[in-house]
Order: sequence, then structure tokens, then C-alpha cells
Amino acid sequence: MKKINSKELRALWCDFYKERGHKIIPSASLIPENDPTVLFTTAGMHPLVPYLLGEKHPMGNRLADVQVCVRTGDIDEVGDASHCTFFEMLGNWSLGDYFREEMIPWSFEFLTKVLEIPVEKLAVSVFAGDEDCKRDDESAELWKKMGITEDRIFFLPKENNWWGPAGVTGPCGPDTEMFIDTGKPKCSENCSPACDCGKYLEIWNDVFMQYNKRADGTFEIMEHKNVDTGMGLERTLCILNGYGSVYETDLFRPAVSLIEKLSGHKYGESDEVTKAIRIIADHVRTSAFLIGDPKGIVPGNVDQGYILRRLIRRAVRFGRIIDLPERSLSKIAEQYISQYGDVYGYLLTNKDRILSELDKEEVRFSNTLQQGLKEFEKVITHIPTKTISGKTAFRLYDTYGFPIEMTVELAREQGFDVDEAGYAEAFKEHQKKSQAGAEQKFHGGLADNSEETAKLHTATHLLHAALMKVLKGEARQRGSNITAERLRFDFGFDRAMTKEEIQEVEDLVNEQIEKKIPVVCEEMTVDEAKAQGAIGIFDSKYGEKVKVYTIGDFSKEICGGPHAANTGDLKSFKIVKEQSSSAGVRRIKAVIGQ
Ligand code: ALA
Repeated sequence: MKKINSKELRALWCDFYKERGHKIIPSASLIPENDPTVLFTTAGMHPLVPYLLGEKHPMGNRLADVQVCVRTGDIDEVGDASHCTFFEMLGNWSLGDYFREEMIPWSFEFLTKVLEIPVEKLAVSVFAGDEDCKRDDESAELWKKMGITEDRIFFLPKENNWWGPAGVTGPCGPDTEMFIDTGKPKCSENCSPACDCGKYLEIWNDVFMQYNKRADGTFEIMEHKNVDTGMGLERTLCILNGYGSVYETDLFRPAVSLIEKLSGHKYGESDEVTKAIRIIADHVRTSAFLIGDPKGIVPGNVDQGYILRRLIRRAVRFGRIIDLPERSLSKIAEQYISQYGDVYGYLLTNKDRILSELDKEEVRFSNTLQQGLKEFEKVITHIPTKTISGKTAFRLYDTYGFPIEMTVELAREQGFDVDEAGYAEAFKEHQKKSQAGAEQKFHGGLADNSEETAKLHTATHLLHAALMKVLKGEARQRGSNITAERLRFDFGFDRAMTKEEIQEVEDLVNEQIEKKIPVVCEEMTVDEAKAQGAIGIFDSKYGEKVKVYTIGDFSKEICGGPHAANTGDLKSFKIVKEQSSSAGVRRIKAVIGQ
């Protein structure tokens, strides 16, 4: 077998297909374009779905590429020899052009001639057939013609030999998969590539995409026949070079060495250390690509942002196990950026963003991790059963920033379970409460309707608008509380404000006060308010009127009131405190009329 590195394999792949009339297309973003059913691009075919369904591709009907992919189905498996959350997929496509008769001989040629894999080491699987699609005897015959003996051709059901769609609906079809037989003895009579005993390692997948899965679960035959293939770069390098794991390939080795240097531990020193190093190496690489992507994302609490947060936080936790110093993740990311920069230039362009987002999230979580772990220990020492309650899991999330998956993983390590349904309930309950609280505050549920609180309410609107301006729209309201003496305002922002920023906000609010601007209240529908750019909670029923308070062209906010009649009534405004309220939320206390 050919001993090659990642650059050579990418080049061999593209050259092979160029020679066969294919255009090499650039790798698409990791964030899918028009598919709300999946968070990330999980295969090379994913960005090509419209073309696989019949739309004309501007580069023709023979395409090939190296596509970055993220699969997060088994984040918890990462740490073993082969699972990665990020990988590159070598792929080629026929859009209604060639089919099995060309593809199978090409696959054979690439594997045996280009990669120099001995034919006797190859095994293949083909679709066994069912009520949706017939048995794939044609593929089996083609493989036989290539010299693959019958005992190495396995007919397997849909579970194993059907690919797609990538999301809920879309192109899919029977596939034929190619494996390297490691030479290990069969694990049983029925040993086949379908079992995971390790005898057969998958190297490539050719999908014969003739079907479109509809929303009702039925399969419609498409007019034109496509080919979609995918070969994992990391896995193939691992197999060709005879490595024990993907972490020994040139794609991971520099990061693994750097982690060793930063932590003072050695890969292979113990199972625990090896696992931690692998997790960190994998998760940092994925995070760097997700943040640096042309449609880059940042850590957050929902969707892609939540997955990114989980990855970074899991890397931080495993970093603790090997004494990785704080802010190491960005150093490891820097290594990946320079290593991959010539292939994926956006990593270089977005380098600052990648490093600062990683640092921010690491520091944010480091602050609560230690305390959270102590709390976790306390919980498992004191509970009488082996199940951590949903409420406790929610407390670990809400107070210490532990994603539920982390609590479950920690629990498992100690032989405990987590009541995940109970967690989901506690989460929902909390959301309901904070929503109700926010509504009450937003909608003018003032405890004290005195003149003073009305003025502080107006000051809150001015403060909110000033924060949005100074902090570039990042400071969304999270909560507000007014007493007769002061206002308190919570907003989403992930670092302390600088002295200058605080001054700037204060000055902006005071300017509006000096201008003596009338505070105008209008009633309108939510849609009208939205159209006018008002901020606030848009949760009223359709058609219902809301009050919108406008302060010149400085602030426009949905609110129940009451408010001061004129900003001049506030006299002056002063921020007395700016502090953290909870992870990612800052709190300002301010007074007026001093
Ligand atoms: N789309 C196919 C896969 O991901 C090639 O395996």
C-alpha cells in the first residue's frame, strides 16, 4: 500500500478525476445552505443536493472535491482510535452522467493502482434488496469482473448498504462499500463488514443515487441517475500507513506533539492521557474550522453554537485531566491554522476571530468548571441512588455552565445515570419562568408606579439603546428591575465593559437627557413595531396592539410604560456598577437625577 501524507492523497484524488473529465469544485461551508434539518455539512454530496435533484451545475456534470465535514452524532465516542467530529471527505459525482459501469472499475483502479492496495486485501458490500429497491446484482457482477472473489462480496440490508438522504428528505440510494480486510480472523461464522469486530475497515463508499426520499417516507425514482462517492481522508491515511489510529496521521501529529509539550504528558502514557489528548486534538480542530468558516459561528446556547460550546467545554474539561494550562486551546488552534491555511485560506483570514473566541469560551468556562466539579462530587457522594436528578443536572448547567451531555458523561464515568427527561422538564420550566418574568418587566409591570420609577424606566430605554450603539448591537436585554432608587439592567455580553465604554454609554445617555427629547407613546400592531425597528419582546398575539415608546431617533422600544414625558425630567444619569450576572450576562446598576 502506498505510504502517503494528506497533501499527496488530496492531490492524487483530484488528479485522478481531472484525468477523467471532472471539474474540481471548492469545498463548501460547514454550515448548510438550505437545509434546516441538519446543523452541519456532513458529506460531500450535501452542498450538491439541488444538482443531484436535477438542477444544472455551472461546472458541468462530472465533479470532484475535498469537502470539509462535521458529524456530531457521536461526540462521546471521540477519544477512541477512529472517531473524529471533523473530517475531510474526498468525493466525486456524476450528475446524470456515468453510472455503475464506469464507477466500479474506477474505484477498483484508484484503490489497486493509485493507492496500491493488493486486490486480496479488498472486500466489498452491496445492497441485498428490499421492497423499495431490488438487490444490486449489477454491482456484484462488476466487482467479480474486477477480480473480487465471491467470498469477499457481502450482500447487506438497507441498514448497511443504503446512503442518504443527508437530512430528512432528498437524494439517496443503494451503495457499495469498499473495505480493507485487516487479516484478523473472522469473529464468527457470520463475520462481515457489517460487524464492528475490526476485521474490515471501511475505506470508500459509492452511492448509486436514483431515489428521492419524500417527506412521507416513500422513495420516488429520479429521472436521472447520479453517482455520489465519499472517502474519508483521515481514515484512508491511517489504513494506508498502517497506523493504529487517525491521530498518528500527519493531520494530527503536530497538534498531538504540541499538546504533549504544553501539558507535559505523553500520548500513549496511559489510556486516560491518550484519550484526553485525542479529544482535545479533535475538538480544537473542529472548533477552529467552525469559528473560522466563511459562515463562521460562535459558542452559544442553541443549534450550531451549542455544539461548538460543547466541543470547547469538553476540550477544557479533558485539558484539566492532563494539566493543560489555561489558554492552550487557542495555541493548539494556531497550529491547525498554519497547517491547514494553504488548503483552507479562510482559517488564515479569520485567525484572530478563531483565537479570541476560543480564549473567551475557555476562560468563561474555566471560571466555573472547578466549582462545578466540586459540586458534582458533592452530589454523587450524597445522593442515595445511582441517578442524578434532572433538577441537579439543570443546576449544573445553569450555575456552572455544564452542558447536559457533560454531566451525563461525568456521571457515566462514576457509574451514575442522569434523569435526562427530568432535566428537559427543569429546563422548560425555567424558560417559562424567565419568559414570564421578562414579559412582566418589558410590559411595564412596575412594582411602583411613582414618578421616580417612570423616569428610571425611561433611563433604562436610553441605557439599552446606548449599550447597543457602544457595544455594536451585542447587548440584548436579558432582564430589568427597577426600584425607587435605582435601575438594574442585565444584558447578554461576554466580557466586562472597559472604563471607556462605560463612560461612552453614560455620556450618550446624558446627551439625550440634555437634549430634552419628548418621550412619545404610540399603539400599533407587533408587525408595525417590527417594521419600524422597535426592540423588545415580540410575543403578542397576531393583530394585538402594543405600546411603542420612541425617544427621538435614539430609542424605539416595545413597552407597557409608564414613562417620563421628557428625557429632560431625568436630569442626569450615572452608572454605579458594571458586573457579571451569570455566564455571558452582564449587569449594570445606574441612578438618575444626582
Ligand atoms: N455520501 C456518501 C457518504 O457520505 C458517499 O458516505
